Amino acid sequence: MTQLKETTTYLQGKITTQPQIGLILGSGLGMLADEIENPTKIKYEEIPGFPVSTVEGHAGQLVIGTLQGVEVIAMQGRFHYYEGHGLDAVTFPVRVMKELGVDKLIVTNAAGGVDRTLEPGDLMLITDHINNTGQNPLIGANVSEHGVRFPDMSTAYDRELQQVAKQAAEKLNLTLKEGVYVWNTGPSYETPAEIRMLDIIGGDAVGMSTVPEVTVARHAGIKCVGISCISNMAAGILDQPLTHDEVIETTEKVRESFLQFVKQLIQDIG
Ligand code: 6GU
Repeated sequence: MTQLKETTTYLQGKITTQPQIGLILGSGLGMLADEIENPTKIKYEEIPGFPVSTVEGHAGQLVIGTLQGVEVIAMQGRFHYYEGHGLDAVTFPVRVMKELGVDKLIVTNAAGGVDRTLEPGDLMLITDHINNTGQNPLIGANVSEHGVRFPDMSTAYDRELQQVAKQAAEKLNLTLKEGVYVWNTGPSYETPAEIRMLDIIGGDAVGMSTVPEVTVARHAGIKCVGISCISNMAAGILDQPLTHDEVIETTEKVRESFLQFVKQLIQDIG
């Protein structure tokens, strides 16, 4: 049996629902999973084939159940490339979600603001991304059962789902900014010169996640919608150093509106 089949079979034995929407919850945004009703919670270390998460502020479990009447599977904490996991490991949970029946993915992250019209605490709808790493989770032999050799990325972030997200924000009277997310590996933050470059090449926000998961999700035919919480301005924009504490502080401040927004989004998608 392949690892993917083994993991899927293990999880199917634990759950009674068939999740439609996958949720990947970023730094400081994992509390949304605590709202899932009739939850089955499975720690990553108990799941065969799953890597083990190491970063603070990440609970590291799958939570499967119902949110806003929709069957969901949430990653409370994700795997990052900078932790030393290979991109296979980082994106494995997306393959598992696909096997379990997920056809839409909501990805969230904390990101640094590159565009000067962004402010810490803003929520930004990801309209597109730039993979600035030279890495790609699809490098290697293509498994044709999983997807095509050369996946189209022209609508990496689904247009319809973007509309639904904008309408959900309107309903809640919440300002939703929009922009292009850049993936850098981290774990060091960027230099001011690097941030000026990212601005010039069309980036609006920068972070250390999301792009590998979305790349694999698109390969698997899963429709994606992404939300960045702008946790801080990127290097060189404000005259102050960047800290992970600031990232966590800001995500805590926007917790309530972020929660309401993603719940509305799930309801409207489902
Ligand atoms: Cl400024 N850069 C990166 N790469 N990731 C971040 C960030 C900045 N702020 C939050 N996450």
